[in-house]
Amino acid sequence: MKTAQQLNYRLHHLCIYDDKPRENMWPYLRWHHGVTNYFTGGVFHVTGVGHSDYTFLGCGGRAYQIQIEAPPFQFEYERNWWSTHGHGYNHICWVTSDARGSMEQLLVNGATEVMPFEEFPTYDGFVVHDPEGRWVEIMEYTDEYFRVQEFTHAPAGECGLEIIGNAEICEDLDASVGWYQDVMDMRVMQEYGEGTDRVIYMTDKEYDPVSRNTIFVLQTARQDFEQSHKNEHGPYISSIIYQAANVERAYEDATWAGMKPLSAPARDEVTGAVTAYLAEPCGDNVILLRERFSDAA
Ligand SMILES: [Fe+2]
Repeated sequence: MKTAQQLNYRLHHLCIYDDKPRENMWPYLRWHHGVTNYFTGGVFHVTGVGHSDYTFLGCGGRAYQIQIEAPPFQFEYERNWWSTHGHGYNHICWVTSDARGSMEQLLVNGATEVMPFEEFPTYDGFVVHDPEGRWVEIMEYTDEYFRVQEFTHAPAGECGLEIIGNAEICEDLDASVGWYQDVMDMRVMQEYGEGTDRVIYMTDKEYDPVSRNTIFVLQTARQDFEQSHKNEHGPYISSIIYQAANVERAYEDATWAGMKPLSAPARDEVTGAVTAYLAEPCGDNVILLRERFSDAA
């Protein structure tokens, strides 16, 4: 069996389930994002019960992207999640160099199957639950040319906005950090806080502070809205994380673009970073906007 290191896990995208992607992408587009790819129709990834409808959006940074996935969905298990949780952050996707090897390695190490291994025309992939039940998608590109397109690294807008990753709320934070380190080769970059108020910044093996500032955050439920969401849905993917050179300006731009303000920029006592919270248009899911992480790391 291959080791986590040999499987070359690289963070790729966060998926939002939403039934009106063509309307709800506009606040993102007004907030300095661009469409990196748009896949839909009856000819792309068709199964017996539906087909894919993916809108990929990027902002400023390289690689890490948003995927808005809309009904009819390809699979029954996706519809089941949609009927239970509705408009939410559904999964995080990692790209690997060997999807079959990854499936074997993850299932041996405490992951449980959500979507069986499948060979699509352009990639091999599958979905599992991590030990706390959050979805992990694994993808290995198999076509010579097909890739979800990427932006080059160039912070967007006058505020210098970049999407850099996501955060997840954990039940047992130390166990989750250990699992993502041991099983998915994530590396701890920064640890903040203590007791029930902790935040752990992690990344993958291809991190670069300038050209690929992609991060993965595991944390406790620190805000009231995080605690109440966790009480209802269990451990969950809690926020998309952005950094900006000018957080105040990025926050103003976001509210102008159609994101709803949750809390204005203020210094977070635990991370030390100027941080704001907003709700995005696909279902009032949370956006965390912070000062540049690469400067603090
Ligand atoms: Fe995905």
